[in-house]
Amino acid sequence: MLSNTCIFLLAPVILCIFLIPVGGTAEDEERPKITPKIYASVFVRRREEHKLFVKHLASSNYEKTYKMLDIAYDKILEIIKDNNMTLHQSGYVASTGFPTESRLQDSVALIIENICLGGDLILHFPEISYRILKKQPEWKQIFDWGTQFLNNYAHILSEQTYQMVDLFRQEVNLTKRSPDFVNPYYTKLPMSETKEKKRPPKKKLKRGPQLTGRVEL
Ligand SMILES: *[C@@H]1O[C@H](CO)[C@@H](O)[C@H](O)[C@H]1NC(C)=O
Ligand SMILES: *[C@@H]1O[C@H](CO)[C@@H](O)[C@H](O)[C@H]1NC(C)=O
Repeated sequence: MLSNTCIFLLAPVILCIFLIPVGGTAEDEERPKITPKIYASVFVRRREEHKLFVKHLASSNYEKTYKMLDIAYDKILEIIKDNNMTLHQSGYVASTGFPTESRLQDSVALIIENICLGGDLILHFPEISYRILKKQPEWKQIFDWGTQFLNNYAHILSEQTYQMVDLFRQEVNLTKRSPDFVNPYYTKLPMSETKEKKRPPKKKLKRGPQLTGRVEL
């Protein structure tokens, strides 16, 4: 179950960051009871894994990062949608707090974690991300829903998480940007030689005086 959701990085690192159940891979009956407090510390660990993944991408070139992000966004959006459906069908109401049933805990955790990871990725690699997400017409709606879903867990998630989410919402214009908005995470990647060979030349931003800056959506 887990292995097909891993991202196999080109480096000798394998990260299965998208689909890890809160209680680990243990069967349900042996699974320790997950309280909001326990999940809060699990979440801190997950965020460290997310940071490692971002760091790995940031040390790759444009083309490699594009490939990995292409897989990543597919998974992230699919997981968020699927688990939203699970929660919805179960009748769970997020404002009642962190669920006690393990199946629902997994769904809530997966949504929270994949929203945060998605936020990190878009903030660090906005141009590549927008190129990829263009293919996923619902991406903005999904992140809009998901970032608001996170507001139900303020007692679990860190202040830093909400700061990231706020910047994320401003970056993708889900929230009106403040006049002094800057994306502090923006990471520029070196190009590889074969990159963009299928793109029409007018899209190349390096040549010519008419720089447009951003990739349009
Ligand atoms: C989550 O489920 C609700 C109810 O089915 C739906 O209205 C909403 O659009 C869904 N959100 C996402 C991101 O799929
Ligand atoms: C958000 O709005 C800014 C300012 O209008 C614009 O430059 C940018 O391309 C927009 N980004 C997205 C992802 O919509």
